[in-house]
Formats: sequence, C-alpha cells, structure tokens
Amino acid sequence: MKTPHIPLDAPYSESQRAWLNGFFAGMHTHMIQSSGSVNQVAARVITILYGSQTGNAESVANNAAAVAKAHGLKPVIKGMDEVEIDALAAMEYVLIITSTYGEGDMPDNAQLLWEAACTETAPKLENMKFSVLALGDTSYDLFCQAGKDWDEKLAELGANRIYERTDCDVDYDEPAETWISAVIPHMAEGASTTSAVVDITAQSVEKPKYNRKNPFPAKMLVNRILTGPSSSKETRHYEISIAGSGLSYEAGDALCIVPTNCPVLVTDIIKTLGCNGDEDEPVNGELVALHEALRTQFEIKTPSKELIEEIARRSGDQELNGILESGDKDALSKYLWGRDTLDLLLQFPACEFSASEFIALLKPLQHRAYSISSSSKMYPDAVHLTVASVRYESYNTLHKGVCSTFLADRVDDETDVPCFFSPNKVFRVPEDDNLPMIMVGPGTGLAPFRAFLQERQYKKARGKNWLFFGDRNAATDFMYREELEAYQKSGLLTRLDLAFSRDQEKKLYVQDRMLENGAELYAWLEQGGYFFVCGDAYRMAKDVDKALHDVIAEHGKLNDQQAVEYVNQLKKDKRYVRDVY
Ligand SMILES: Cc1cc2nc3c(=O)[nH]c(=O)nc-3n(C[C@H](O)[C@H](O)[C@H](O)COP(=O)(O)OP(=O)(O)OC[C@H]3O[C@@H](n4cnc5c(N)ncnc54)[C@H](O)[C@@H]3O)c2cc1C
Ligand SMILES: NC(=O)c1ccc[n+]([C@@H]2O[C@H](COP(=O)([O-])OP(=O)(O)OC[C@H]3O[C@@H](n4cnc5c(N)ncnc54)[C@H](OP(=O)(O)O)[C@@H]3O)[C@@H](O)[C@H]2O)c1
Ligand SMILES: Cc1cc2nc3c(=O)[nH]c(=O)nc-3n(C[C@H](O)[C@H](O)[C@H](O)COP(=O)(O)O)c2cc1C
Repeated sequence: MKTPHIPLDAPYSESQRAWLNGFFAGMHTHMIQSSGSVNQVAARVITILYGSQTGNAESVANNAAAVAKAHGLKPVIKGMDEVEIDALAAMEYVLIITSTYGEGDMPDNAQLLWEAACTETAPKLENMKFSVLALGDTSYDLFCQAGKDWDEKLAELGANRIYERTDCDVDYDEPAETWISAVIPHMAEGASTTSAVVDITAQSVEKPKYNRKNPFPAKMLVNRILTGPSSSKETRHYEISIAGSGLSYEAGDALCIVPTNCPVLVTDIIKTLGCNGDEDEPVNGELVALHEALRTQFEIKTPSKELIEEIARRSGDQELNGILESGDKDALSKYLWGRDTLDLLLQFPACEFSASEFIALLKPLQHRAYSISSSSKMYPDAVHLTVASVRYESYNTLHKGVCSTFLADRVDDETDVPCFFSPNKVFRVPEDDNLPMIMVGPGTGLAPFRAFLQERQYKKARGKNWLFFGDRNAATDFMYREELEAYQKSGLLTRLDLAFSRDQEKKLYVQDRMLENGAELYAWLEQGGYFFVCGDAYRMAKDVDKALHDVIAEHGKLNDQQAVEYVNQLKKDKRYVRDVY
C-alpha cells in the first residue's frame, strides 16, 4: 500500500504540509480500514473552535483543519472569542479543541462564549454534531476541566456527541492525532460525494524542524544577574543564541526550555532508594542507566500524584492518608508545599521502592516556558529571557526549581540549551503603531514588555506606551532600571508607574497605581488603547482584573454590569490580553 501524501499545490503552509505528511504516514491504514475510501467526500462545512492561551490548542485546530480539508470537508477555524452564542447555535458540525487554564478554568479566549453557553437563555443546539478534544496537564487537580465542561454543556444543550471526548496530558501530539484521525471520518460520514480530494501517493515524510521532541541545541551567550546582591530573590537575564537554527520569533512569544535535573538531586535520590545508579531501566523502549534516566527523562523534583498515593498506601501514614481520603485539595497543597520527591522518600524510608517501581511512578520531565524579553527585530539571532531562579529552604534543605536553576547554574560552554518556540498570536504589539499600549508586568511579568518596547522603538511607532512595573524592593529589584529610565527620557515610555511592595510597611502593588491613575488609564482605553498583563496568574492577574473593572466603572461612570460589558468588549477586540502563569 502506498503512503498518502499532500500534493505540492494544495493550499497548506509548509508546516501544515509537513505535519499532514507525517500524519498520513501514520494514519492511512486507519483511514482505509475505517472508511473504505478517503477520496470521495463532500465539501461539508465543519467548524473547529479553539480555546487556547498559549497556542497549543490553536495549532491542533490547524492540524485538524488540514486533515478535514484533505477529506474534502470545508473546515472553518475560529477562536472561541470570534463566535457569539447565536452563531454557535447555527453550527451543524463542530469540533471543540480547548486547553484548561488557571485552576480548571477556561482559557481567556473561551471565557465569554462559555459564560453565554451557561446562561438560562442559551439556545438549544439540537442540530449540532460535535466532539471535544481537551488539552491539559495531569499535574493539575482539575485535569482538562474546560474540555470536560464543554463536552457536558453541549450535550446538555441538546447537541449530539458523535465521537467521545479525548483528554490529553502535556504530551498531546499522539492522542490529538488519534482523535483527529478518528473524528474526521465521523464528521465526513453521510456527506454527498464530490470531486477527488487528496492524491494519495507516496512521498517522503517531513517533520517540523524543532519542537518538544526535537529541540534546537542553543548556546548560552549571556547569564547575568539582574537583582542586587542583598535582594531577597534572584532574577537573571539570559541571552540565548539561535544563530544557524533558521528560527525566528515575534515579541510576545515564549521560548520553551527542555531542562535536565540537578545531578546532586539525582545522586541523593539514588542513594535514598538504595540503588547504585547503574541499574538499566526501560525508558521509551530502550534500556537507560538509572542515573541518566533520572537526570534527563523524569520529573524528580515535584512529586507525581501517583507517587504520593503509593507512598500513602505503603506507609499507611495517617496524616497523608487522611488528607488524600478527604479530597481536600487545599490541605494537600499545604502538606506538599516545600516538600519535594526526595523529602517524601526521606520521610517514609520504609516504603522501599525498587528502581523500576520508582520510575513507573514518575511523570516525564517537561519543558518550561519563558516569555521572551527581546524583539527579534533588534536581536534576530538571540532570544533574551528574564527568569526568577526558584530557590527556597524547606525541611532543612535548599530546594531548587528544575529549569530556572538549570539555566542559572548548569548551562556552560559545553552544555546546550535545548529549546523551541511557543508562539502566542494574540499577545502582540498593536498592528496600528499609533494606538496606546498599557502594560502591567510586575516581577518577571516585565519580560514581554521589554520586548514590546524594543519592537516599538525599532518601528519608530508613535503610539503612547505606559508601563506598570513592581517588585519587592526598589534598591535591589528594579530590573532593567537604566533601560527603562532611558526609554522614559527618550519619550518611548510615556509613563512608568512603579510599585515596590516591600519598601514600606503596607504592601503597594501595580493595581494600586492603576487605581491612583484611573482617569488617565480610562482615557487611554477610550483612545483605543491596548491593555496587556503578564506575570502571576493566581493573585496578581486577578487583582489587576478587578482594578481594571473598578477604573472603568468609576471613570466611565458605568454600573458594575456595564463595566463588565466594557471589559468583555476589550477582550473580544483582543485589546485586553494576558500572558499569565
Ligand atoms: C507562558 C509562560 C511564560 C512564563 N514566563 C516566565 C518568565 O518570563 N520568567 C519566569 O521566571 N518564569 C516564567 N514562567 C514560569 C516558568 O515556566 C517556570 O514555571 C518557572 O521558572 C519555575 O520552573 P522551575 O523548573 O525552575 O521550577 P519547578 O521545578 O517547576 O518548581 C516550581 C515549584 O516549586 C515550588 N516552590 C516554588 N517556590 C517555593 C517556595 N518558596 N516554597 C515552597 N515551594 C516552592 C512550587 O511547588 C512550584 O510550583 C512562565 C510560564 C508560562 C506558562
Ligand atoms: N503560581 C506559581 O507557582 C507562580 C506564579 C507566579 C510566579 N511564580 C514563580 O515565582 C517566581 C518569582 O516570580 P516573579 O518575579 O514574577 O514575581 P514575584 O516575586 O512573585 O512578585 C513580583 C511582585 O508582585 C507582587 N505581588 C504579590 N502579590 C501580588 C498581587 N496580588 N497583586 C500584585 N502584585 C503582587 C510581589 O509582592 P510581594 O511578594 O511583596 O507580596 C512583588 O512585588 C518565578 O519563578 C515564577 O515562575 C510562580
Ligand atoms: C498557569 C497554567 C494553568 C493551567 N491549569 C491547568 C488546569 O487547571 N488543568 C489542566 O488540565 N491543565 C492546566 N494547564 C495546562 C494547559 O492546559 C496545557 O499546558 C495546554 O497544553 C495549554 O494549551 P494552550 O497553549 O492551547 O493554552 C495549565 C497551564 C498553565 C501554564
């Protein structure tokens, strides 16, 4: 049997073509077996709706669309923020691909449609046939919750689920491919036939160049500390060379780093297990020495749920079992706060795991994302990052974050920085150079705004720029101070409002500065200004959101509901966008 391939004149981008060819190489058997013929199906419209914060769901949606096209379907891809509830009601064939954010929440671009679907007046969807692909991460309590919510809601509104939901963990490529390969024939079923769709003939399989499984081996050019010697934290500036990679990026994108674990932690764990490290263990079909497997393949700092449950079972520890049985997530977070995998092994030595048992309870080591703090227009061959090193003392030991300290301590001239880009298409400098930008970025949240300012400087953009920045203490934590003050002097930075939280008795935060300057902030919004937020998702972004509503209500003389509508319109216009983590 021949391998399917996409003709060169088919309307796909190069990356889609590469993806499709790879996809078909794995899928054609399934297609032929399941549908008999893949060549003759009608141009039925299917709508692919994505809810996505950082682009993963969007890229899967593009892949699904490419496969749908190849089946003769007419895919229409839309972000969930591009669809009103009445338009949803009119759709007949729908695929929903969504990630989950925050704590089981919708990604920002799905929030409004979700709220509309949850109102009592939401329309019935009895004409709709749908399936859901949920992206998530099993290390979160509410795994794939947004996808689960949509799956239930559409069924509740009368829509007909024509293929079961698939929930994907961080390595979503394969399950997503499987879901696409299964769901598209269902979407095509019963459509009347038209002209041939895909010429399925042999062609070599291309793969996208650099990704999670094949990262670019970059070189570290600069590793410089930004915080002062007496600071209570350590934040660093990195410059990473992408010369020769053929890669490029946009201000607003993130760079994902694939780290390795600290060798000292690896050795301590091996010792605690009573192993010598040379034990060969099967990893992805190959035998790998235990020490190498723990260094490069598995998450060994943050304990997996499976490991915690097994430790509770083997130890019979009353406290831990009590917490697990109660299902009290806050109590579990509190119990685990500051305790890493090694702490748990040391706390319960009687559990006695063999190397194989231990490894079977670990999760794969994941990449970490970092918002890029440079503009490629100024630095085409380098990526700048602004990273807070995670270091803290607990249980009498110094604990280190895997990736932030990989960058800080373990990358040298001989050690590459394996990386790939994660585009964020909505987190972008306004296309119109004349429109104002308001940027709220305390702590490492400053990163993308340094890139935005460079971008605007390079483009000689005339729009006003306003930065709200804050950190702990001005004397030690005012990162990029000289650059920002120079931007202020040159006029690039129209306003710089600072909030150093620990310089006075009462905490002072960026949202306090927003409220103090509410009239002007509102005026900038009224002039068509964009409102960007980056940094901590759990506390800061929520408080900033509240402050934005308050500013709009007060200075726009609006009631609460009208202020919500004003903010919702900003979101729909993609003038209120966040890069929060
Ligand atoms: C889109 C995106 C953009 C991001 N951009 C940036 C950026 O520009 N700069 C940046 O610095 N980070 C950024 N991050 C966060 C970054 O990805 C990592 O999460 C961060 O660097 C920590 O990773 P780590 O591997 O060093 O720590 P990990 O090994 O993942 O350890 C972190 C864990 O350690 C524990 N912990 C941390 N501090 C303490 C403490 N004081 N006491 C007890 N336990 C603690 C917590 O359980 C925490 O979850 C971004 C994240 C996303 C998703
Ligand atoms: N959920 C998470 O696990 C999470 C979230 C964000 C960042 N981080 C990690 O923490 C490290 C340091 O992060 P960072 O430098 O970006 O930020 P940070 O040190 O946590 O905070 C930066 C500034 O924001 C202030 N802040 C605290 N609560 C706030 C609130 N509700 N509203 C507004 N401002 C608030 C802080 O003040 P005070 O500290 O004085 O209160 C500080 O002045 C990084 O490794 C990052 O990845 C983890
Ligand atoms: C701050 C943050 C919060 C997240 N919260 C959850 C969650 O509650 N449940 C879950 O299953 N996944 C969660 N995830 C994982 C994302 O859903 C997952 O990384 C997904 O692939 C992101 O896809 P996107 O780029 O399309 O948004 C979270 C990720 C981040 C960075």
